[in-house]
Amino acid sequence: MKFFVDTANLSQIQEAHDLGILDGVTTNPSLMAKEGITGEQAVLDHYAKICDIVDGDVSAEVISTDFEGMIKEGEILSEIAPNIVVKVPMIQEGIKAISYFTRKGIRTNCTLVFSAGQAILAAKAGATYVSPFIGRIDDISWDGMQLIKDIAEIYAVQLFDTEILAASVRNPLHIVDSAKNGADVVTCPLNAILGLLNHPLTDIGLAKFLADHKKANG
Ligand code: E4P
Repeated sequence: MKFFVDTANLSQIQEAHDLGILDGVTTNPSLMAKEGITGEQAVLDHYAKICDIVDGDVSAEVISTDFEGMIKEGEILSEIAPNIVVKVPMIQEGIKAISYFTRKGIRTNCTLVFSAGQAILAAKAGATYVSPFIGRIDDISWDGMQLIKDIAEIYAVQLFDTEILAASVRNPLHIVDSAKNGADVVTCPLNAILGLLNHPLTDIGLAKFLADHKKANG
């Protein structure tokens, strides 16, 4: 399973990259706004900075909701760097745009996916990635992980090539369960990735090893 970090914060992207386990980055307009990146050129420049840090895929989201607008934006975004993946919302115009990008050889991430039916449409349109938002489903007391399972089953039966990118991941357990249930990629905040490190027995064990070493060696 690939690990993407879900942020537009350059120092967090660098920190995840320095771990040596980072396969890519996802962003969205909310994450860009959170970093104070505003204005068309500033957004494009920021994506270029992210692509300078990571070799893996970087999802850059269109903000248009009409076909022509998405195509125009997606073509500009895809020229920033070869590892840019154009992120397109799961709406009718978005499916048209993904089909267009697929024909043109531009890779896409279909975002805001909340049902297996939407995931089937994204795959039919040729999306490179489909992004089911598991945390937001859990937030409304539904089962986000069940959606990952359903999509994994359907894609396996139908031999779809689209990769399942578990998104809206909130904690380390989401990462472990995504791995168990067939996600190809998980995108998560840096703190969820770092949370995988934690175990009290690791801390207790290390403290004892170091104490024993000190006792023996002075
Ligand atoms: C995915 O690509 C989105 O950027 C992200 O995972 C959304 O997460 P959130 O529900 O925590 O905002």
